[in-house]
Amino acid sequence: MPRSTRLGFQPPAIGEEEIAAVAETLRSGWLTTGPKAAELEARAKEVLEAEHVLAVASGTAAMHLALVALDVGAGDEVITSPITWPATANVIVHTGATPVFADVRDDDLNIDPGRVADLVNKRTKAIMPVHLAGQPCDLEPLWQSGVPVIEDAAHAFESAYRGRKIGGLSDATCFSLYATKNVAAGEGGLIATNRADIADAVGELRLMRRGDGSLYDLAVPGYKANLSDVLAAIALVQLDKLERHRELRAGQFALYDDAVADLDGITPLARDGRDVHALHLYVVRIDADRAGATRDDYQRALSDELVSTSIHFLPVHRLAWYRERFTADCPVAERAGGEVLSLPLSPAHSEDDIGDAIDALRRVHARFTGLR
Ligand SMILES: Cc1ncc(COP(=O)(O)O)c(C=O)c1O
Repeated sequence: MPRSTRLGFQPPAIGEEEIAAVAETLRSGWLTTGPKAAELEARAKEVLEAEHVLAVASGTAAMHLALVALDVGAGDEVITSPITWPATANVIVHTGATPVFADVRDDDLNIDPGRVADLVNKRTKAIMPVHLAGQPCDLEPLWQSGVPVIEDAAHAFESAYRGRKIGGLSDATCFSLYATKNVAAGEGGLIATNRADIADAVGELRLMRRGDGSLYDLAVPGYKANLSDVLAAIALVQLDKLERHRELRAGQFALYDDAVADLDGITPLARDGRDVHALHLYVVRIDADRAGATRDDYQRALSDELVSTSIHFLPVHRLAWYRERFTADCPVAERAGGEVLSLPLSPAHSEDDIGDAIDALRRVHARFTGLR
């Protein structure tokens, strides 16, 4: 039976606890950065197993400030993945440096360390890998390059790479608290690092003031990228729910895995059993030859069935602004950009909701493959 109401792609799982936390914070008088932001940093330090965690206004700000803290600027190159939200490349541009796109691996669409090695040169100031959908990249070869690594861990709150929690592994690791993320505050970001120099620099940069807290002197021309206590209060409640929400998403992954195993031409991205996957997005690739229609056809047909989906991601170097300024040799990313489709996934969805999405996918697949 088709749905009678639209199924959202990734609605936030917000309950009475978050609402109460916001009300309590508003009553406390702290609208801006205060004790809740400090508590969030302390809690996140434990969860992410990092020596320092700094709360900022967004995942984008986290990545930008990490680059600025590393003194990345004009004349430098930063290597990143083309399969990401454009923010990852945009912040490189904002520093004045040049983004260099390294192609991805075909199975999980994470940056290919071999391609990165080909691109490293004396101008390379940082590497920014992205843990797509929650599957950690292969970090070891990136570390071996000797170039500082800033991880885009927007999808990777619960991820672990070969038994070690994503958070305190590279020079800096940047998380997003955006509305759809595993820990959702609406907006917000976290920078985790074991490097005191990066933590000190970000501490100064995020709030236009000196690290020693003196308000009226200025050591660096900083930004305005601090996190409000109102949002930190939501994130703190979401941290309490981390395991429960993960279990719910794991159940949804299992339902999808079972279903797509029978659908020719629809294949989920690879997940590496040596790692912990954050289960942030359930991404499939649609092979038009075998699945009978393109990704765009599938997305439209599912939308007609009142099932919302999303695309993670179109290759950044093919987006207008980048296309006109940069060239990149990324054939794997370019093909994948036309094939990826993210299915509804959220702790706010019930098993029946996911069942509806699967039924709709089966109906659409049967129609496109001419089986019905
Ligand atoms: C891979 C990736 N990187 C960076 C970001 C930016 O995070 P924010 O929206 O918190 O700035 C996002 C999502 O929003 C993302 O999906």
